[in-house]
Amino acid sequence: MKVKLQGVRYRLPNFSLGPIDMDVEPGKIYVVMGKNGSGKSTTLKLIHGDIRPSEGTVLVDGVDASKIGFIQLAKKIAFVWQEIYNPLSFTVKDVMNVSGYSRDADEDDIFKALSVLGIERFIDRDFNLLSGGEKRLVTIAAALYQDSEIIIMDEPTNFLDIDNQILVYNLIRDLRNSGKTLILTLHDIDAIHNISDYVLILKDGMEVAKGPTRETLNVQNLRKAFNVPFYTYDTVNGKSFVGAMK
Ligand SMILES: Nc1ncnc2c1ncn2[C@@H]1O[C@H](COP(=O)(O)OP(=O)(O)O)[C@@H](O)[C@H]1O
Ligand SMILES: [Mg+2]
Repeated sequence: MKVKLQGVRYRLPNFSLGPIDMDVEPGKIYVVMGKNGSGKSTTLKLIHGDIRPSEGTVLVDGVDASKIGFIQLAKKIAFVWQEIYNPLSFTVKDVMNVSGYSRDADEDDIFKALSVLGIERFIDRDFNLLSGGEKRLVTIAAALYQDSEIIIMDEPTNFLDIDNQILVYNLIRDLRNSGKTLILTLHDIDAIHNISDYVLILKDGMEVAKGPTRETLNVQNLRKAFNVPFYTYDTVNGKSFVGAMK
């Protein structure tokens, strides 16, 4: 399944995104990166058809994303939201079932998805009473259970402690290796460097750079995007990026 953004613009009174052109090929990890307010979440919402471009088109398998019905869209794309809302008194199992509404309910698969995140013990807990990090793990498990071909995750590692961040990075890699397409926003530049295949770097709603991570994620483009000097150093895990302090 392919996603294509063609000359996509989105205009708000105080913010303008685009034009964005992007081709998302199956089985790769894409990261949209940039400062707070640069348009990352807006880009992901456009891909998911939650908002419609002011100009241009978003095609999911050749079809306008905003015209795909809910059930069909849920089969194609799962979305892990940056903000976590749950106004109802849902248990964790309820949250899983809502995410999996486009497929046949399968308790074993719910359990399996929770187990991948190490949280199967939460299954009957009140979702609202979990900590921020625990809720985040449930929302990622819910996206796994949805079993769509494309998984969008908006800042999936926020709220998470370091071992759970590493768990999620490893999971993202495993999902890619099993053929899923991942479209993410992340802030950790070293993680982006280590796991992503392609990056789109935004600044004030505009493309600063895009392309294969190896060629595109460099100190020049980071400086353009974040307005601070960057340097790199070598670690056991390869190159590491640091924004220079005064
Ligand atoms: N529905 C909206 N109404 C008004 N402003 C919005 C709306 N959605 C996003 N914005 C603004 O657009 C800009 C980009 O938002 P967003 O894409 O969420 O940024 P990012 O995810 O990169 O931090 C921000 O300044 C945000 O306040
Ligand atoms: Mg955001």
